[in-house]
Amino acid sequence: MRILITGVAGFIGSHLAERVLADGHDVVGVDCFTDYYARETKELNLNSVRHFPGFKLIEANIVDADLDNIFKGIDIIYHLAAQAGVRSSWGANFRIYSDYNILGTQRVLESSRRTGVKRLVYASSSSVYGDVDDFPMHESVFPRPVSPYGVSKLAGENLCVLYAKNYNLSTVSLRYFTVYGPRQRPDMAFHKFIRSFLCNQTSVLYGSGDQTRDFTFVSDAVDATYMAGLKQDFSGDIFNIGGGSRISVNSVLNILEGILGGPLDIRRCETQKGDVRHTAADTSAAKAAFGYIPKVSLEKGLEKEVDWLKSVYCCGIGG
Ligand SMILES: NC(=O)c1ccc[n+]([C@@H]2O[C@H](COP(=O)([O-])OP(=O)(O)OC[C@H]3O[C@@H](n4cnc5c(N)ncnc54)[C@H](O)[C@@H]3O)[C@@H](O)[C@H]2O)c1
Repeated sequence: MRILITGVAGFIGSHLAERVLADGHDVVGVDCFTDYYARETKELNLNSVRHFPGFKLIEANIVDADLDNIFKGIDIIYHLAAQAGVRSSWGANFRIYSDYNILGTQRVLESSRRTGVKRLVYASSSSVYGDVDDFPMHESVFPRPVSPYGVSKLAGENLCVLYAKNYNLSTVSLRYFTVYGPRQRPDMAFHKFIRSFLCNQTSVLYGSGDQTRDFTFVSDAVDATYMAGLKQDFSGDIFNIGGGSRISVNSVLNILEGILGGPLDIRRCETQKGDVRHTAADTSAAKAAFGYIPKVSLEKGLEKEVDWLKSVYCCGIGG
């Protein structure tokens, strides 16, 4: 299998590449090292895969690269490249979300069908749901995103469905629910809380802390993504990928304080525009379709993220 991963230098993309290479497949990785966070951090992410002879990195932006040329001979594409982040997607910034997440996805789909790619797995997000009334969230709920980021990810999903129906391109969208673990993006909450503790700084908590989330450890998200790509018969299907439990942010902070061995210094601020109140994934469809069962508990997963961040910030190489 010739496998291509867009967004390979990112948090989830680098773990996915590691997993696919370890299984004996070749990987072409595409990334343009956006400035959403430091290039240095992404280069460190790639250290986990550079030593594999089957790994090739192409530095290119999916918005203007010659994708037909890059995709020639590729069987499966895992499309993870995107501008992430809910809070920064308002205002003039939306330009980059619409370019990278919508136009970029459309270009990836066009080239995939032209070059005979067999399957495309799209990294979608629980942000497409917005605020729903019924939990856990099921894929059949009508999505009403509450952030421009969520709108851009939903547009990408809809494009995947269009290309499946009109061109018989096998596409599948995975709605990740807050992924965490080693290499988590520096703008994400767990990373920020742990970093602040390790560096004796104050953390900001947006909202009361009563908001609940379904947190997914990165190896579970990667397993789901990898398995979905190997399956043969998707046609625009959509699946939730969650961690298996819903917990309030206040409860997570208690667990974190236990692992870190001391209190976090928290400043509480108002809820930010675009933040959803609650998330919880119904993952029964992913289980039935490709055997997805999350394996890593929140406690174990947080311990791994803390260990990783200690190695980063306590050695002075943080990004
Ligand atoms: N991390 C999460 O909790 C989460 C939750 C839901 C969905 N997702 C989705 O999963 C995917 C990966 O997220 P992540 O947290 O690893 O983010 P990340 O920012 O760490 O990784 C994304 C990578 O894509 C690259 N990239 C962005 N735009 C590009 C472009 N136009 N051309 C080439 N490369 C480009 C970036 O340089 C980066 O290395 C994204 O599509 C994101 O929307 C993530």
